[in-house]
This record gives sequence, structure tokens and C-alpha cells, in this order.
Amino acid sequence: MKRYEHHITHAANAYYGSGFDEALIVSLDGYGSGLAGAASIGRGGKIERIHGIDYPHSLGTFYESVTSGLGFRPSRHEGKIVGLAAYGDPKVLRDVLFARVDQTPGGFRILESNNVYFARMLASQFPKIDVAAAYQHVLEQVATAYVAYYLRQTGLRNVVLSGGVVANVKLNQRIFELDGVDNIFIHPNMGDGGCGTGAAFLEFQGNANLTKPLTDVYLGPSYADDDILAALQRSQLAYDKYTPIEPKIAQLIAAGKVVARFNGRMEYGPRALGNRSILYHAREPEVNQWLNQRLGRTEFMPFAPATLFEHRHQCYLNIDGGDYAAQFMTVTFDCTDFMKNESPAAVHVDGTARPQLVTASSNPSFHTILTEYHRLTGLPSVINTSFNMHEEPIVCTPDDAVRAFLQGNLDYLAIGSYLVQHPSLR
Ligand SMILES: [Fe+2]
Repeated sequence: MKRYEHHITHAANAYYGSGFDEALIVSLDGYGSGLAGAASIGRGGKIERIHGIDYPHSLGTFYESVTSGLGFRPSRHEGKIVGLAAYGDPKVLRDVLFARVDQTPGGFRILESNNVYFARMLASQFPKIDVAAAYQHVLEQVATAYVAYYLRQTGLRNVVLSGGVVANVKLNQRIFELDGVDNIFIHPNMGDGGCGTGAAFLEFQGNANLTKPLTDVYLGPSYADDDILAALQRSQLAYDKYTPIEPKIAQLIAAGKVVARFNGRMEYGPRALGNRSILYHAREPEVNQWLNQRLGRTEFMPFAPATLFEHRHQCYLNIDGGDYAAQFMTVTFDCTDFMKNESPAAVHVDGTARPQLVTASSNPSFHTILTEYHRLTGLPSVINTSFNMHEEPIVCTPDDAVRAFLQGNLDYLAIGSYLVQHPSLR
């Protein structure tokens, strides 16, 4: 057995999956192997660390304290805080927080008084949205200053990111917007679930040309039509077979139906990217309330859009250089007026969205659904949210899919080539 240090595995999964020959590699997380983050240079297939952030000066712990302070589950519900923050005013509390962070050139220290008890105290005295906004603001400022320092030091123009902190899609936008950044990539499984992948990359380092784009993350289990059919028969649900099924799915979405899509290999990482996804049109913002309610979820960020790659400039500003990262729903972008007007359900109160750009090569079936939907409606985006029930993992097997479909009261299940209408609609 061979062991690798925690942050080198984060660095490796970001760098070797990026396809960049040269990149500044930054990992930021709660804790791992004594560190809460690191900066490294990736060049010619080699990784050289230039700085380590010593625990306990952890931006992960910092952000977890506000998650807990606002009554959510730390190291799980951080995304809710990112969503909440956009509604608040960061100015109310940011100075109070900055007084508890020492920023030094190329580093930072988070003072001991800046902890979960402090976050709880703030949450008991100030509006939650303003508390969330201040933590998000300070996180963005401290992390971008850290990245900017090492960009200047190294002269590198590509940034690759990993670690649980960079699950923060808004932070990633700020890093991408830094002066001197040409391209960005975030490992799609940025949390510690990706460390094994990093270790595997390192183990095979030395093989030529290791840094190549992942192209897709459909790396999980897949099920043959026979398995799917067996699950449908067990469920005693009525079904029809369509070959191809994609135009039918597009028609249903265009007609305002909620379609749960199960197809091919499951996604690697935390995001559903079309193979274990719930799809809906993005024209009515109200969907964010009623569909979340049906799924038993509390979210403050709108659902994410899946957008045809070919139409990215019609929908998002400043996306060149971020369009590879955006295939994995890991960064927000400012939206165009077209996007705000035509797909308002996917646009946050601050005018951003966190798209999945869908290419024909990465997911032909999903790309065909979107192309067909675009042909019917003139719109290149639909809402894509993970196919799972409240606090459960994303569905994996056909049986999981049937159960979540019934429980969530979704209109249609499009599983492989089979289409099932919810019994309550028949
Ligand atoms: Fe980690």
C-alpha cells in the first residue's frame, strides 16, 4: 500500500484533469495531513508545492462555522449559505470578521476567536442573510488574495482548484475574474471524495502526457435495458418504449412536465450532470419553490441550468476560459439579458447562474434532448437538478430511480429507452 499526503492528492486531481501543461494549483479545504490548503506549480506533468496553509488557519473550518451558526449541517450544507449570502448585505458584519483574520502576503491566519461560537453569536443578533453575506465576502477576499499573490509570484495564467472550499461556485467565479487568469478548472469531485483519484493520478505519474482534460465524469455504474425493464416490472408501473427517447423527453419538458432522467453511467462527484437528473423548463421562477418542496429540500440558490455548449455566449458573460470548468457546474457566471429574461428560474438574485454546458461528445443523449428542446422553444437551457430525495444520495440503480420518482411525485420517469408516467397522472 502506498500513501499520499492529502493536499498533494487534491493538487493532482485538479492539475492532471485540467489538460493545462502549466497551472497554478490551489487546494483549500477544512483539514488534511496537517494542512488546510496549499499552492503549487504544475508544469510539464510535475507538481511542485510552493506554500502550505497550516491548520488551524482553515477557510473550510471558517465557512463551516457559519453553516453551523445559522442552524445548518456543517460540511454538508455550505451551498445553502452561498445561496443565502446573495440576499444579504456583506457590509454589516464584514469588518467584525476581518478583525479576526490576519492577512499576510501569500498567507493568512484565522484568529481563535473566529469560531463557531462567534458565528452563532452573530446569527443570534443579526439577520441570517447578512451573516451569510459577510462570511461569503470574507472568504472570497481572503481566498482571492491568496490566489492572486501566487499568480503574481509565478506568472502563471491558468488556475486549477480542488478541496471542499471550492465547492463554493461563487468563490470560483471571483478567482476566475482575477486579473491575469486566462483559464480555470475545478476538479468536479473537489471534496475528499476526489482524493483517491488524485492518488491514482500520482501513482501513474511518469507516464507521458498525463494532464489531459477529463472530458466527462460519467464514470459510475450503468445498467442495461434488461436491468431497467426488470426494475419497472417489479414496480408494476406501466411503461412505453421509445427509440429514440430524446425527442419525446424534449416535448414533455416543453409542455411543462417534470422529467426525471436516468441514463447510462452515473456521474462521479457531487453533481448530477444529465444521467441522474430531474429536468424542467426554466421559464418560471416559481419552480424553485414548488419543486424543492416536492423533493423535500430547502435551497436559497435557484436550480442550475444545463445549456447547450454551442449557445454559451448567448447566455453567459465572460465564459471563455471558464467553459471547460462549466461543463461540471463548478463555477457561476454573470448572465446575459437573454438568460435573465428567458430562463429566469435558473438565475439567482445577483444575476448569476452555475451552468452545466453540455457538449455532444460528453453526453450525446443529453445534448440531443437539449437540441430538440431548443428546436421546439428557441431556448438552449433547461433546469437540471439532482435526481434524489431529501438528504439522500443521488439515485444509482433503476430501483432507486423508481422509488425516488414515485416518492417525489414527478410527472415522468425517462429511464433508458423507457418512459413511465406517474400513476397519479394516469
Ligand atoms: Fe480535503
